[in-house]
Amino acid sequence: MADQGGGFTPGVAARLRLADDSGAFVKAMPVTHPLADAYRHEARIAAGLPSAAPVPRLLWHGTAEGWVVLVFDDVDGRHPDPTPGSADIEPVVDAIAAMSRTLTPCPVAELEPSSTARGAWLHGWELLAQDPPEDLGAWERQHLAELAKAETVWRSHADGPALVHGDIRPDHLLTTTGGHIAVVDWAHAFHGAPWQDIADLVPHLVMAGHTPAAEHHLAGVDTWEEADEEVLTSYAAAYAGYWTRMSRQPAPKGVPHLRPYLRRAAATALAWVRHRTGAA
Ligand SMILES: Nc1ncnc2c1ncn2[C@@H]1O[C@H](COP(=O)(O)OP(=O)(O)O)[C@@H](O)[C@H]1O
Ligand SMILES: [Mg+2]
Repeated sequence: MADQGGGFTPGVAARLRLADDSGAFVKAMPVTHPLADAYRHEARIAAGLPSAAPVPRLLWHGTAEGWVVLVFDDVDGRHPDPTPGSADIEPVVDAIAAMSRTLTPCPVAELEPSSTARGAWLHGWELLAQDPPEDLGAWERQHLAELAKAETVWRSHADGPALVHGDIRPDHLLTTTGGHIAVVDWAHAFHGAPWQDIADLVPHLVMAGHTPAAEHHLAGVDTWEEADEEVLTSYAAAYAGYWTRMSRQPAPKGVPHLRPYLRRAAATALAWVRHRTGAA
């Protein structure tokens, strides 16, 4: 059994080698854990994904011995390298674009729309403005009111015809030796406008060392090209607000790497906002 690092959740995620030498990937969460519902949600989504979707097949899901358990096909792959100059970036962009086409119209019924599903948490400036933290950066402090206004605009453009993964980042992508890209962890998927999945690559490219001008990697992707500039800027502001807000909350038990990650993510999204608004 090979435990998979890289995630932030305290459940079990492991690649299994079975007696007949076949593989399986299992993730499990205690039924009492607050994230158990996210695992159930993931099972519902994974069970509804079409075979053309670039995802490992869900083999079994259910409750066993007090755990919510999901068993998938094992993907023998590696996370794509998102750093500047990496040859992995173009295939990842193409894979996300193709995934969005495959998942339009949304194949899973009765999902919450993005505007409320993500809108409920993807924000931060309005709350931060009510009681600004002492260590808030000077630029953010100076622009708090504008940021609070900007961070809501994307929500009225978030709903749409697709199934949206909702958490696209390198550790949810696996590149196989054959060059195929599999998208994993559908726990945050919802019904919405597909520009969100392609836009989610930007902060992760920046976290990997790019400048926000890395947006140029998305040129030619229709969901990106068709998204309104103001909506994308608002989306960047919402991420910056969310990560800034969350990075000031106590880390949940058993997740020690989360806060440093959130600090870096917040700085990244702020750089993205500043790039998009011309505030160097
Ligand atoms: N089907 C799979 N086959 C092989 N590895 C996988 C598979 N699904 C996920 N992984 C690996 O396990 C890690 C954690 O899986 P993920 O679904 O993101 O769990 P969590 O809910 O803990 O975030 C992923 O980042 C990926 O590296
Ligand atoms: Mg994950």
